[in-house]
Amino acid sequence: MDTNCMTVSRFIIERQRDFPGATGEFTTLLNSLLTSFKAISSAVNRAGIHQIYGLAGESNVTGDDQKKLDVLSNDVFINMLGASFTVCGMVSEENEKVIRVPAPNEKQGKYIVCFDPLDGSSNIECLASIGSIFGILKKPDTNEPFKEEDVLQSGDNFVAAGYTLYGSATMLVLALKNHGVHGFMYDPTIGEFVLTDPDMLVKEKGKIYSTNEGYFKYLSPGIQKYIDAKKFPQSGEPYGARYIGSMVADMHRTIKYGGIFMYPANTKSPNGKLRLLYECNPMAFIVEQAGGAASNGSQRILEIEPKSIHERAPIFIGSKKDVEEVLEYIQRHDHN
Ligand code: AHM
Ligand code: MG
Repeated sequence: MDTNCMTVSRFIIERQRDFPGATGEFTTLLNSLLTSFKAISSAVNRAGIHQIYGLAGESNVTGDDQKKLDVLSNDVFINMLGASFTVCGMVSEENEKVIRVPAPNEKQGKYIVCFDPLDGSSNIECLASIGSIFGILKKPDTNEPFKEEDVLQSGDNFVAAGYTLYGSATMLVLALKNHGVHGFMYDPTIGEFVLTDPDMLVKEKGKIYSTNEGYFKYLSPGIQKYIDAKKFPQSGEPYGARYIGSMVADMHRTIKYGGIFMYPANTKSPNGKLRLLYECNPMAFIVEQAGGAASNGSQRILEIEPKSIHERAPIFIGSKKDVEEVLEYIQRHDHN
């Protein structure tokens, strides 16, 4: 046993020394998130035996069926973050409106958290990996009471973002602004997330493309030509294809092995499927902090100024050279 284990809380406390004047509020916020991940991880692992897979009988705001685990995960996030006194507002995939944290002004936290409590819900019943995604912003004016518009900030304003993958193990990947990307594996025997992947970096170029190719006929000519070029290259070996349909799992592989993940616009979904505030932005922030790139086809994901909390964005994300290549195809064939 490692008697000097670097838990995520210890890691954050040590990093906080680099920020003179830090109040510890971020550490408290992170601790409430850690409790949420442990509770969700435990529920995911017990779901089959406890029969909590099934539909909860409600739809979420974008019309998808909500599973019981989604509801449970959302409740855990809202309760833990709401009780931490560090958060003034939240945006969840499962809630139509901005969630205000009721608190007297002087006790209102300064952070805003955007999250998808359990992403990849179509994979729950087949036991494939699923995950939680989150991004953390600050209230723009800390002296003013929280306003709902405060959540509409570009991803460049994140102070931190991350995801937790509930896979063959539970793993938290945390990106801190200007402090890199670090992976912490959950050790259930001590109830702690322990640093296993410090300073994660995305390869400059990979050998895997990841997209739902079933939509091929609905894709733009540029994307179709790019996919063809990955399968039938004029020289060299074709790329491998991998697609789980669970963004956290597909992105974790993309970060670890390199390559590109894409959910482009298509004729049926003109803005793609994935949501900007709590799916695209956190992943783009993590990938950029790890040296990769993320674009919606014409601009960096993190530059997009959101207009509404559940808006969608097309996304091309992963190894820098792979993202640059797909953007060249889009430029050449789609932007006439
Ligand atoms: P969800 O939030 O309803 O779970 O949907 C998001 C998921 C992502 O995890 C995944 O990348 C995508 O939907 C897959 O969509 P598709 O089935 O259209 O390929
Ligand atoms: Mg989702």
